[in-house]
Amino acid sequence: MENIYNNFINYAHRGASEYAPENTLLSFYLGLYMGANGIETDVQLTKDGVPVLFHDDTLERMTGEKGCVADYTFSELQSFNVKKNGLTDKIVSFEDFLAHFSHKNLTFAIELKGDGTAIKSVDLLRKYNMLSKTIITSFKFKELVDVKTYAPEFRTGYLALEDIDDTLLDKMKETGIEELCPESKVITAEKVKEWKEKGFEVRAWGIYNEQIMKDVYHTGVNGMTVNFPDKLTEYIRNLK
Ligand code: G3P
Ligand code: CA
Repeated sequence: MENIYNNFINYAHRGASEYAPENTLLSFYLGLYMGANGIETDVQLTKDGVPVLFHDDTLERMTGEKGCVADYTFSELQSFNVKKNGLTDKIVSFEDFLAHFSHKNLTFAIELKGDGTAIKSVDLLRKYNMLSKTIITSFKFKELVDVKTYAPEFRTGYLALEDIDDTLLDKMKETGIEELCPESKVITAEKVKEWKEKGFEVRAWGIYNEQIMKDVYHTGVNGMTVNFPDKLTEYIRNLK
């Protein structure tokens, strides 16, 4: 992989999800082809307890099917197609994903989307020796507490929706959470400096267009999740 990044991470968000069915092998491979040096994905559990990669609780938006991921066994889910731009692929298990990508020199942001996903996700990350290249993230503080209790060796990141104030930052410190993940709209260079001085890495989410991508890049964040990793690759390459 071309090294244009230094320590910055261009995470293909649910893969190259602007172009291909999100959270599928097709989308992840496309993200790498487009130059991403990280992958972000979402874990939740099927009815029979298999960790799979899927963003929404419900199947409708990406597959057109009724019901929720948790209403079906993994085997039943395999009859559905995840669709985008005329492309289709299957819902992938977290373990199959790790079999494909764990050996690659990438950073992985594994988001615990469903309740009760921490233990099974950590077990798989341990099985595939993912410690050095993984950050486990969630909007659900409880899942991160579960990770830090069960596997304190793993780095974690909190996806913040609420105001980022000292109360939150203190709570993160007490829990041992290493990375703060704010939405792009609250990110400024001054804030990033302040958060880094408090000892946090900072990763942005909510990069809704190219202008936001460029603006946030220059605030000094450690990385960002983008649906269009090709555009971020090109932007950074042209800055060099
Ligand atoms: O980068 C984190 C981001 O994935 C959080 O938002 O809704 O896409 O999971 P969401
Ligand atoms: Ca996510």
